[in-house]
Amino acid sequence: MMEEADVKNASVGKGGLPDRDGNVTLDACIMDKNGDYGAVMCVQNITHVISLARKVMEETPHVMLAGKGAEKFGYQQGFKKEKLLTESSKKAWEKWKETSQYKPIINIENHDTIGMLAIDNNGDISGACTTSGLSYKMAGRVGDSPIIGSGLFIDNEIGGATATGMGEEVLKTVGSFLIVELMRQGKTPQEACEEAVRRVVKKSGNRFKDFQVGFIAINKQGETGAYCIHEGFNYNVYKQEENKNYKATYFNKA
Ligand code: GLY
Repeated sequence: MMEEADVKNASVGKGGLPDRDGNVTLDACIMDKNGDYGAVMCVQNITHVISLARKVMEETPHVMLAGKGAEKFGYQQGFKKEKLLTESSKKAWEKWKETSQYKPIINIENHDTIGMLAIDNNGDISGACTTSGLSYKMAGRVGDSPIIGSGLFIDNEIGGATATGMGEEVLKTVGSFLIVELMRQGKTPQEACEEAVRRVVKKSGNRFKDFQVGFIAINKQGETGAYCIHEGFNYNVYKQEENKNYKATYFNKA
């Protein structure tokens, strides 16, 4: 929520970098301990899309709303219409237009999707994910973040996982669902994240050298794990009122 409102964060909410046409379009999803889920995608003019995803989960018979329909529902629910393109993201877009080069930049994901996993005192797990997606994407492009099983998955009997990085690659391996299933088979969160990253790498041929994917996971015991393809993915663990930042271990040692 706070990050979505932070105009200095160029990868979520207000101030997120726009698509090629200069429109900021946001994706988000949320999943709770009951396996209930809500998502919005390609939403313009609303900052707190994670809250909008929650409204989809709690107030509608559906799980996903896209584009104009999601926006209309947001206004009905009392969300404010806001301009999401800030002066600095507009400047960055105008600079990008000088070359219009479209190439993923490794660890732009440092500022990419925000994924959160939470476990309470009862051991109940939930999670959320929010992003402005790849900067300068094609209009209408949706990544992994709002898609159940890819950007986020929770099974309260087992654990949860969420992803950051190149959404297309996470989607192709249904990465977060894969991690939860690997934990179901007995892997620790760390082992499961490592196996999922190896799967993404293997399926990509040699392309993995040009993109980042990172996962975090938590199991029913509250153990956590994180792994990514390339160095540079950090994550926080908040426990017993202490917030610690860690560097995720990574696959590509070359
Ligand atoms: N992981 C965010 C995206 O690719 O949209």
